[in-house]
Amino acid sequence: MTGIKIIPLMAKIGAEVAGLDLRDTMSDAQSEIVRNALANYGVIYLRGHKLEPKKQVSFTRVFGEPAINHNAKKFGINGSPEIYRISNIVENGKPIGTAKAGTEWHSDMCYAMRPAKATMLHARKVPQLNGFALGDTSFANTAAAWDALPITLKEKISNLRVIYDFTRRKRGAKPSKAAIQQYPPVSHPLVRSHPITGRKSLYVSGESAGIEGKSEEAGRIIIEALASHIVHPAFVYRHSWRQGDVVVWDNCTCQHKAEVDYDLPLERLMWRTTVKGSVPK
Ligand SMILES: [Fe+2]
Repeated sequence: MTGIKIIPLMAKIGAEVAGLDLRDTMSDAQSEIVRNALANYGVIYLRGHKLEPKKQVSFTRVFGEPAINHNAKKFGINGSPEIYRISNIVENGKPIGTAKAGTEWHSDMCYAMRPAKATMLHARKVPQLNGFALGDTSFANTAAAWDALPITLKEKISNLRVIYDFTRRKRGAKPSKAAIQQYPPVSHPLVRSHPITGRKSLYVSGESAGIEGKSEEAGRIIIEALASHIVHPAFVYRHSWRQGDVVVWDNCTCQHKAEVDYDLPLERLMWRTTVKGSVPK
């Protein structure tokens, strides 16, 4: 008996994983169930945890090898560089984390040759107003969005490649020179297959820079049409955070977006880890 209960949220996306105490070492059978839940539902969440940094890193390992983000130098956690802070908190005049990260729909590290396979956020502080949580994260299922396209359109787009350019992301903070050098422009298949389930999904968002072999304008039309199709409400789950949540998403099956509807003095703190991925196919 693994004691794990998988509770699907909606027909198309998301599941709660209950019955796990993440302070314990997970068995191989438990790890397998959780990995499969992520692959099948795109987003999973576990509630009521307070993880030590080392425990978050070891839970991240269930999904693969943890990566060290380029932001970790500035906002990493002492002794656990795999974790970096997403936060609006300022201490002694200095931000302790990246504020307002990911406010446009995107898939993590799509600008890299090997984008992150999965991302995990552990909620340490959730802003609240009048008893309601602020700072939700929305997730869109890119596989369900692919499934829903008409066959004629699928045939037209299935061999296209999307160009990603790190310097053209719509971000508040300017990227560093080192980060720009680390991530030259790359292209990925517009329709990719999931490494575990084989399920096809759309891999394009408003952050995409163009389509290979298409003019700037023709590429932009395709990108905008598909990017807005992906985030149709039928494919979207919006997570309302509670302190102690651990949410994991699969960057092949999902796109996500941070809702920034809070500001200081309301404080938000998330610990983020990512799992290394392979070249999208
Ligand atoms: Fe993100």
